[in-house]
This record gives sequence, structure tokens and C-alpha cells, in this order.
Amino acid sequence: MKGVILAGGQGTRLYPLTKATNKHLLPVGRVPMIFHAVQQLVSAGIKEIMVVTSTEHMGDMVRCLGSGEEFSCSFSYRVQEKPMGIAHGLSLASNFARGDRVVVMLADNIFGGSITHVVENFARQKEGARVVLKKVSDPTRYGVAALDEKQVMYIEEKPKQPPSDYAVVGLYCYDEKVFDIIQTLEYSARGELEITSLNNEYIQLHQMEYEIFEGKWMDAGTPESLFEANRIFFDEG
Ligand code: DAU
Repeated sequence: MKGVILAGGQGTRLYPLTKATNKHLLPVGRVPMIFHAVQQLVSAGIKEIMVVTSTEHMGDMVRCLGSGEEFSCSFSYRVQEKPMGIAHGLSLASNFARGDRVVVMLADNIFGGSITHVVENFARQKEGARVVLKKVSDPTRYGVAALDEKQVMYIEEKPKQPPSDYAVVGLYCYDEKVFDIIQTLEYSARGELEITSLNNEYIQLHQMEYEIFEGKWMDAGTPESLFEANRIFFDEG
């Protein structure tokens, strides 16, 4: 199983903190934000990791993460020239991960508990994809899952009228066919290849499983949530 950490995008919601640096290099607790995703993947046994980031900040990213030796893993890097969406960022890992399963993390998502069980559950899954849900008070900010007793029926990106309170968090597991499916996706109205479109394709194939994350979880992509993540994670290291 390979890991992909997506750290592209412009971080406009955090401007001017992101004027001179990449959002994912800002501190969360005592370390740069992206360290949290790296440490989660490595603890889950994923040691080959591709980091995707933008042209402007690739130098800082490599300086910060290095070869991976410090984390007991090995990093590969790819530039995403423009923020053309999360699924687009993932598509850049196709040569790196082709023929293998992949666990994808958004570098601005911080988990206050281990993700190892998610990876283990996915390893036991015969095929398809796996998403992780978290009950939230502000679902309109996220991809939101419509659920029946057993399965995810569909996911809606930033819905005005959310079909549930369950946000889809930035941790996704895909089988080997993910890169072929991404090639069939169309760009959304905001000009992005959406991760939600990719997940809905797996739902159509009846190959999407899910679980609910019981630990703390935050998307640290806004000034308020970045502050809150620091408040929570400063004492936890
Ligand atoms: O945090 C979870 C949410 O993340 C999900 O519930 C949504 O379904 C998903 O679309 C995403 O929503 P955001 O509005 O938070 O996405 P954002 O554009 O902030 O991108 C999240 C991370 O993905 C960002 O920190 C870097 C990476 N990214 C994003 C884009 C658009 C890339 O690497 N490349 C990109 O082109």
C-alpha cells in the first residue's frame, strides 16, 4: 500500500499567513501541519509516500521533509502546477502508485487519534474504496454523506441543505483502479476534478465502504480552525 499526501492549493483562506509559505508548513502544535499526516501514515505502516504540492513551495517542502529518513519512510515529490482539484492532485501519483492500493491524506486534516484501524480495515476489503466520516456541527463546509443503514448512498460537496451531519474527512483509501476512474471524471463548475466525484463513482460501482472516526478530527484550513487545532494539539506534541 502506498501513501499520497496532498499539499497543493493556494491556502487563500489563510492569507496573509500563506503569502510566503505553504499552508501545510504552518505550525499545528509543535510541528509543521504536514508532519501530522506523515506520522499517521508511517504509524499505519505506510512507508512509501508521495507528497504533491505547488510549484512556489516545493523547495520549502523538500527542505522541511527531506528524503524521509527522519520519519523512517521514503518520500517522492510531484508538482501540481495549478490547484485543479484534489482528484487531479491524486492523479499525479499514478506512476508512483499504479498497480498498488493507495491511502490518500489531505495535509490540512489533523486526526487526534490513530488512523491505523482505517488502513487495516481497508487492507481486509476485497476491492473498492473506503471513506471515513465524522459527525460535525457545520456540514455545509465539507463533502457530506447521505447514508442509509448500511451504506453511503451519495456524497454531496458543500451542500446548502446537507443530507446528514456526517462530513467525509480528508482520508481516502482506493484500490488499483482509482487512476483509471479519475481519467473518466469531468471538471466541476469551479474548475476542479473533485474528490467527491471520484467517491461517487465508487458508490455507483457499489464498491464504497465507510467507517465513522471516533477520535478528534479537524480541517485546519481556516484561521478559526487553525487556531483551534493549535489550541488542541499544542499540548499533545
Ligand atoms: O477537510 C475535508 C474536506 O476537504 C472534504 O470534506 C471535502 O469533500 C473536500 O473537498 C475538501 O474540502 P476543502 O474545501 O477543505 O478542500 P480544499 O480546497 O481546502 O483542499 C484541501 C486540501 O487538499 C488542501 O489542504 C491541499 C489539497 N489540495 C487541494 C486542491 C484544491 C491539493 O493538493 N490540490 C488542489 O488542487
